[in-house]
Amino acid sequence: VDLTSANTLGLSGRAAAFSHYTSLGSLIELQQSARELNLPLRVLSGGSNILLAEHVNALVIKPAANNIRLIRENNTHVWVDVDAGVDWHQWVCASINYGHGLENLALIPGLVGAAPVQNIGAYGVEAGDFIEQLVGYQLSTQQLRVLSGEECRFSYRNSIFKRELKNDFVIMRVRFRLQKHFTPTLNYAPLDQLNADRLTPAELIYTVVDVRSSKLPDPKITPNAGSFFHNPVVTEIYAAELRQRFPAMPQYGQSVGVKLAAGWLIDQCGFKGKAFGPVSMYEKQALVLTTSKGATLSDVHNLQKIVQTKVFKTFGVWLVPEPQVFD
Ligand code: EPU
Repeated sequence: VDLTSANTLGLSGRAAAFSHYTSLGSLIELQQSARELNLPLRVLSGGSNILLAEHVNALVIKPAANNIRLIRENNTHVWVDVDAGVDWHQWVCASINYGHGLENLALIPGLVGAAPVQNIGAYGVEAGDFIEQLVGYQLSTQQLRVLSGEECRFSYRNSIFKRELKNDFVIMRVRFRLQKHFTPTLNYAPLDQLNADRLTPAELIYTVVDVRSSKLPDPKITPNAGSFFHNPVVTEIYAAELRQRFPAMPQYGQSVGVKLAAGWLIDQCGFKGKAFGPVSMYEKQALVLTTSKGATLSDVHNLQKIVQTKVFKTFGVWLVPEPQVFD
């Protein structure tokens, strides 16, 4: 099965087998088929944060259930269950009919089921802040499990699904807890220019869509996987040293350490708009890697190493890729 059009970087790759899942019943059946074929199961979602290998020797499954259900509400909050197969941006747009909090996360590509995996975030908001619990199927124990938001261990672009439960957990449904009252998070540029008193939730979504469209390439036109590297966090001592050597370097204090802007580091090294074979760092945002037709994982790894090495030599910081290899 050809997966080239199933990953937003457009990397060429094939899987041994492919199917959709909707219910627990279908997952149990697929696990049985995988066993008969002697293949592992791998979950693919929107394909917007993966580095597809040329040969995926697995039964690849993708969520197809796409319902949104109001569960309950009180005076301050509302709880909504969303199936893994719902498109993330469509859910953000629909969410404002229930409650608030997700507006800043508009236009992030992918499906709801993948949002918890890397705890997607933008403009000061992270999906994990609004996930009360989720339901999924653990492959190794063959159990249906409910994990609380706390058990998901969300942190910056990370969760239990990238660590202890990596390749072992199929997310089926996510329960969001939204706020009834609209109190937008506007401390991040350029949203800090908005007037909070007059802003409607829909206007906030439109603004985020505008900002993202002006900086980030549309994967349908220019294949990409969003930010290609994490923003690195360094110690305060090292951050101060870097500030002395590079006074213009953006730095963001965290509760522990200081976050640097990977896009700035890559830009300073002169990679913006530069092509290396069929892959380049995007001309308007150096943190985004884009591909052209025929690119493979090894082309991506080639540029990844060139960027990592140059940034390390210049700034002493080793960049870690955000998308995960899918093999
Ligand atoms: N910068 C440059 N040159 C560049 C790119 C950035 O100098 O080519 C500078 C900017 O001027 C700014 C700083 O770097 O001072 C930060 O850039 P930006 O505001 O564009 O945000 P980012 O750190 O590059 C992060 C997330 C994005 C998210 C935005 C907005 C990560 C790895 N990336 O990008 O998330 O949309 O903030 O919140 O945390 C993603 O994860 O795929 C993603 C797109």
